[in-house]
Amino acid sequence: SNPSEEWAAKLKVVEKNSDGTTQTRIIRRTSSDFKFERELGEGSYSTVMLAHDIHTEKPYAVKVLDKRHIVKEKKVKYVNIEKESLNILGRRNGIVHLFFTFQDEYSLYFVLDYASNGELLSLIKKYGSLNEEVTKYYTCQLIDALKYIHDSGIIHRDLKPENILLDQDWKIQITDFGTAKFLDKDPSTGAFIDDGRAKSFVGTAEYVSPELLNDKAVGKPCDIWALGCIIFQMIAGKPPFKATNDYLTFQQVMKVKYAFSAGFPSIIRDLVKRILVPIPGDRPTIKEIKKHLFFQDINWKASETSIWYTPP
Ligand code: ADE
Repeated sequence: SNPSEEWAAKLKVVEKNSDGTTQTRIIRRTSSDFKFERELGEGSYSTVMLAHDIHTEKPYAVKVLDKRHIVKEKKVKYVNIEKESLNILGRRNGIVHLFFTFQDEYSLYFVLDYASNGELLSLIKKYGSLNEEVTKYYTCQLIDALKYIHDSGIIHRDLKPENILLDQDWKIQITDFGTAKFLDKDPSTGAFIDDGRAKSFVGTAEYVSPELLNDKAVGKPCDIWALGCIIFQMIAGKPPFKATNDYLTFQQVMKVKYAFSAGFPSIIRDLVKRILVPIPGDRPTIKEIKKHLFFQDINWKASETSIWYTPP
């Protein structure tokens, strides 16, 4: 297929004629449809910019990827995985929405939801740590979103507070699916096979699971491990495994060497202890996590778990 065709974003405009009939005009989106304002974030081969659609005034976060750099660094596969994951996960609470993509001579553009309250990491840093109630508020949303990602046959592989954005209503939007992995489908049952194997290392040292370091194994339990690290971090203000360099951090992860601070609530301590175990098969599944005492007041069927708390 023609790659530029695939990357072209089209805006469908339905126009009413005077005789009552309608016609559809296809308008191709380009970067000149947006007024770029300021930088929101920077990756190794991309920059996220705040931009307004000049026609509607709607704000977007536009991820601009440098084509030459992507090709040179052999990241084409990751860019396609990111686009495909976001297309599969679609418009759903908890996941950043990809509206459209387009390209010009130098760059690829991902037009994403603008999460106006920034990263969960900034919130943790601003307050030093989060209380039990706020931690529960974000953890519930993370669990809901992670279940949806996994049920769609996708593993995120780089969950961390930098990749958890907060929208204007303080709802989470998971972003950065550039290192996601698609699980294979069993041809006879149609179920996703979690074979726990992977070829190359990805992720961030502080949130990487022991099985990934030991056997390069990835499956749903990798994301569950990261969730455990994030829950710990919301309460403690820092991740459980963190040393002066990545090598020393990996040593701590492989030994599952971490310590709870004094005053760490015992109920959350119990949950984190169950999640941060070395054998991925011993880790609780999302279904099991939902049954933990910490969430006993949560009605998981009413997916709008967020009504009962709004952070300051
Ligand atoms: N930083 C990176 N992506 C962002 C987004 N979608 N909204 C706000 N800030 C961001």
